[in-house]
Amino acid sequence: MNSIRRFKWTDMDAIMEIEQEAFPKSPYSGFTLSYYASAYRNNFLVYLVDGRVVAYIIFYPDGHIISIAVKPEYRRRGIGTELVNEVLKRTGGRAMVEVRMSNEGAKKFYRRLGFSLLGIIRGYYGNEDALVMGT
Ligand SMILES: CC(C)(COP(=O)(O)OP(=O)(O)OC[C@H]1O[C@@H](n2cnc3c(N)ncnc32)[C@H](O)[C@@H]1OP(=O)(O)O)[C@@H](O)C(=O)NCCC(=O)NCCS
Repeated sequence: MNSIRRFKWTDMDAIMEIEQEAFPKSPYSGFTLSYYASAYRNNFLVYLVDGRVVAYIIFYPDGHIISIAVKPEYRRRGIGTELVNEVLKRTGGRAMVEVRMSNEGAKKFYRRLGFSLLGIIRGYYGNEDALVMGT
C-alpha cells in the first residue's frame, strides 16, 4: 500500500540514506534536514510503500521546492509526480525549483509536470549553474 504523510523524527535515518543515494556529491547533512523538519514541519512529506519510506519532498509554503528524492529502485513509477502534485494541491498550483544544469532526468521530470524555464542562476552550485523551473 502507498501513502503520503508528514515527516516524523523516526524517518530520519531512511531520509538520510535516500538523500545520500540521490545527491552523492552534495547531500544535505542531518543538521540541515533537521532544520527543515523543525522549521517547515507541514511541508516535509514522506512517501511510504508498504510501510517503508522510499521518497520525500521538502518545500516552502509558497511552493518553492527545497528538495525531492526517490530511492533509485522506486523511480519511474510515478512517485515523484505524486509528491509534486501534493505540493501543487496545497499551493493552488504554484511551484518552482532550482535544477542542476546537468540533471537531465530532473529537467525532463519537471517539464513533464508542466514546469517551464523561468531563468538561470549562474554559479548556483559553485561550479555549476541552476535552471529555475516553475509553473
Ligand atoms: C527526479 C526524481 C525525483 C523523479 O522521481 P520519479 O518518481 O522517478 O519520477 P516519476 O516516475 O513521477 O516520473 C514522471 C515522468 O518524468 C520523466 N522522468 C522522470 N525521471 C526521468 C529520468 N531519469 N529520465 C528521463 N525522464 C524522466 C518521465 O517522463 C516520467 O514518466 P515515464 O516514467 O512514464 O516516462 C528522481 O529521479 C530522483 O530522486 N532523482 C534524484 C534526485 C534529484 O535529482 N532530485 C531533483 C533535484 S531538483
